[in-house]
Parts: sequence; structure tokens; C-alpha cells
Amino acid sequence: MMILTFLISCTFLRSYALLQPEQIHLSWTERENEMRVTWVTNINTTTYVAYRPVMCPSAVYSDKWTNVSANTIKFNKGEIIVLFQFIHTAIMTGLKHDCFYEYYIVTAWGKSEPYMFSGRTPDYEPPYDDAKNEIDILVFGDWGTGSNSLYVKNMLDQHIKIRNFLGVIHLGDIAYNLDQEDGQTGDDFLNQMQPVAARFAYMVIPGNHERTSNFTHYKERFRMPVNEANGGNSCFYSFNLGPAHFLMMDTEVYLHDYLRDSQLTETNWIAQDLEKANKERDIRPWIIVTSHHAFYCSVNHALSPECGVQSYLYNALFEEMWNYYGVDLFLEGHVHNYERDTPIYKNETVKSEYDDLHMHKNPNAPIYIVSGNAGNKRGHNDPIPEVLMPWTVFMHEDYGYGLLKVFNKTHLYWEQYSAMTGDTIDYVWIVKDRLRYDKPNY
Ligand SMILES: *[C@@H]1O[C@H](CO)[C@@H](O)[C@H](O)[C@H]1NC(C)=O
Ligand SMILES: *[C@@H]1O[C@H](CO)[C@@H](O)[C@H](O)[C@H]1NC(C)=O
Ligand SMILES: *[C@@H]1O[C@H](CO)[C@@H](O)[C@H](O)[C@H]1NC(C)=O
Ligand SMILES: *[C@@H]1O[C@H](CO)[C@@H](O)[C@H](O)[C@H]1NC(C)=O
Ligand SMILES: *[C@@H]1O[C@H](CO)[C@@H](O)[C@H](O)[C@H]1NC(C)=O
Repeated sequence: MMILTFLISCTFLRSYALLQPEQIHLSWTERENEMRVTWVTNINTTTYVAYRPVMCPSAVYSDKWTNVSANTIKFNKGEIIVLFQFIHTAIMTGLKHDCFYEYYIVTAWGKSEPYMFSGRTPDYEPPYDDAKNEIDILVFGDWGTGSNSLYVKNMLDQHIKIRNFLGVIHLGDIAYNLDQEDGQTGDDFLNQMQPVAARFAYMVIPGNHERTSNFTHYKERFRMPVNEANGGNSCFYSFNLGPAHFLMMDTEVYLHDYLRDSQLTETNWIAQDLEKANKERDIRPWIIVTSHHAFYCSVNHALSPECGVQSYLYNALFEEMWNYYGVDLFLEGHVHNYERDTPIYKNETVKSEYDDLHMHKNPNAPIYIVSGNAGNKRGHNDPIPEVLMPWTVFMHEDYGYGLLKVFNKTHLYWEQYSAMTGDTIDYVWIVKDRLRYDKPNY
């Protein structure tokens, strides 16, 4: 009898787990006032998201739940064996900037925990009411599962309880790898990410570890804003948030000759995107570019191609564009450490109106920051060189992540944490009272 009960409950628990929604993550879309939620079940089941506004300042509080049924795809996550999972997405619409939203996922068998997120979403069309408001975004690169990833996991899970953010940017290299172990590693990672990604828009770009089978796992598991050039592949896109424009680029394509068409498509799109962002500079003075590979970093060139040949390649393609459009800040991953550099143009520090260790006033070139050390599977394999580059301000090897705060049109602040000690290990202010560089070319 006991054995029978045991068997029944095992079967019960197993099918229960199969039906439960997992890997819940949010992302912004290409439209305003929307949030996309993506989740996974292991069998095909009717499922939907239920959401409602909460904590609105005015009297729009509503007890009414809106239900949106999922759009479902059947995805073979296996490589050696065929293993299907069902990836569901639904878009919550009509969001208001000054409300929060409570939601949960419902399946035939039950529902997820409730989660809450902010109704502030990207601002694509006038009136740009949100452009004056502060934004806080967590940023990291190169994060997987396993023991090296736990420092950031533990700190992030606490951090999100005491502070509010709008979004999280993951600068590529996700899970090590999404496709590994017939997709189990990707599932484990997205479950590890869920406490954070179910509450804040989780915006990703691809790194070299997402390359398998033409980025299939990346494209199926993540849905980023669609534009005409990316055709919905989630690899490169942009969004306006508060006083900043974010250009999220895919550097991986430029390393593969067979992707020549994709390179041209993306490069043309980047030029158009920056042209438009630059025209709206009086509304949104900050232009921030993110990429997986580093354009400037200091790891010994002889030992690693990343800060040598690869960065030369990228700078040859793009540095004039950053300079012409006056990009303010460049956030990059790939290299497994933390590095903050001065404003750089053509491999040299460019003086600002005022510079000190923690502040640049009216810089004349982009400031480069590598935050590629959230916890990769290889550990500390990009040691700090004995001799730093002339433009390196600060480097650190601890696993950790950063926080970007754009206070307003004139003040941007960045800080980096060590998740091993819990300390803030570095910070910098960028202050500017003009829209872009004075000297685009010199
Ligand atoms: C929406 O979902 C909630 C919670 O699952 C349910 O109670 C409600 O009846 C649903 N509303 C509609 C209109 O289907
Ligand atoms: C899930 O099952 C329903 C009902 O049997 C079917 O209509 C639908 O096509 C299935 N979805 C997928 C993605 O296989
Ligand atoms: C890879 O995917 C992109 C779309 O993201 C597509 O344009 C391209 O043709 C694919 N390449 C191959 C070799 O399948
Ligand atoms: C950049 O400058 C450093 C140090 O001054 C030098 O070692 C390196 O070769 C330079 N890189 C390029 C691409 O010129
Ligand atoms: C912008 O933010 C900074 C930092 O919080 C603050 O000192 C400054 O007064 C703000 N400027 C405006 C115009 O609000």
C-alpha cells in the first residue's frame, strides 16, 4: 500500500512538474506600454497569463484581471535525443507608466507564484513624458549555472528585494550553454534567472556561446523587440528608456564570413538607428551601446585574441560611427573580468572638460566598461595584466555585476559590485551639459 501510494505520488508529482509553468521571464517589445512574458511547459497544455494593475497613484486600481492566452511553439531542445518543450509567450498590453502590474501564469493544473513588475516601458513615440525620469538597470555578461555563478545568484536574489529596477541587461554568453545537455542547461539557467527575470524586463544579446545551430536556442527562448532589419531574430535591436537610448548590438555575426549578409543588414541598421537617436538628442541625450565582444579591453594581447585582433576588427568597422554620433557609454562582456576605461578614440585617451578617477565632465569619446564576470564556467581565466593599458582606469577579477543609473539628462552613474564580498568596487559619474561631443572628428 505504501509503495503504491509512493508510486502514485511520484507519478503525480512528475506530471505536476511537467505541467507547471517554468523559466518565466519578461522582456520589452517594440511597442510602448507592453510587456512580453515567456514561459515553458514540458507538455502541451492550455495556458495563459492573468494580470492586473496595482499600486497606481490615481484611482485606476482595478480588481479585474485580464487574461491573455499564450502563443505556443513546440521546440526540440535536444541534440542527441529529440526532446520537445513548449515555449509560450503572451503580451500584456495597455500598461501605464505609473502603475505596477501583478501577474501569474495559469496552466490546466495550477498557477505560478504571482510576480510584480513596473509599468514603465520603452518610449518610442511622442509625447515623451518618461524622458525626464531616472532609470536603474542591472547589467552583467557571461553568466551561467554551477558554482562560479552562485555569488551573483545569491547577491542578486537579495538585491532585488531591497531595490527596485526597471530591467536587466545580459551582455551575452548565457547559461554555458543554452543547448548543452540536450537543453537542460538552458532550462536550469532560466529557472535560476526566474526570480529576477520574472520581475524585470530581461534584455539579452547573443555571445559566442549562443552560436550553436545558428543561434537556435537563443532565438527560440528569447523574444526581443522586432525591427525590419532583425526580422524577429532578437539578435540586435534598440529601445528608448527614460533619458537614454540603448543600442543592443550583435557582435558575433562579424566573426563569421558565412554571415556576411547579416553583417551588412546589421551595420546599415545601426547607422540608421544612431541617426534617429541622435536627432532626438534634446529629448534623450544619452546614447548607450552594448555588445558581447569588447571594443577596448586590456587582457594580454598575446594570450587572447579578444582584446587584440577581435577588438581591432570591431573598431575598424564601427569606431568612426560611435565618434560621429557621439556615443556616451559602451558596455561590453566576453572578457571574464571587470574593467573601466577612460573615454577612448583610436586607442588613446581623449580628455574631457574635466576628468578625475570617478568623474568625466563633458567627455569627447565613449567610455568603455567591461562587465563580463557574472560567473562563467571557466572561472578567472582572463587575469589582470601586470601592465595596464594607458587608458585603463580600474580592473578587478571578482565575480559580480553592475548597476547603471541614468538620473536625468545631465547625470549618468555606473557602479560595479563584487558579489564575492558584497562591496561596491568601482563607480563613475558621467556628467554633461551639452548634447554631444564638441569635436566629432579631430
Ligand atoms: C481570468 O483568469 C482568472 C484567474 O485564473 C479567472 O478567475 C477569471 O475567471 C478569468 N477571466 C476571464 C474573463 O476568463
Ligand atoms: C497543442 O495542442 C492543441 C490541442 O490538441 C493543438 O491544437 C496545438 O496545435 C498544440 N500545440 C502545439 C504547439 O503543438
Ligand atoms: C541563420 O539565421 C538567420 C536569421 O537569424 C538567417 O537569416 C540565416 O539565413 C541563417 N543562416 C543559416 C546558415 O541558416
Ligand atoms: C594600442 O595601444 C597600446 C599601448 O599603447 C599598444 O600596445 C597597442 O598595440 C595599440 N593597439 C593598436 C591597435 O594600435
Ligand atoms: C540630475 O541628477 C543629479 C544626480 O542626482 C542631480 O544632482 C541634479 O540636480 C539633477 N539635475 C536635474 C536638472 O534635476
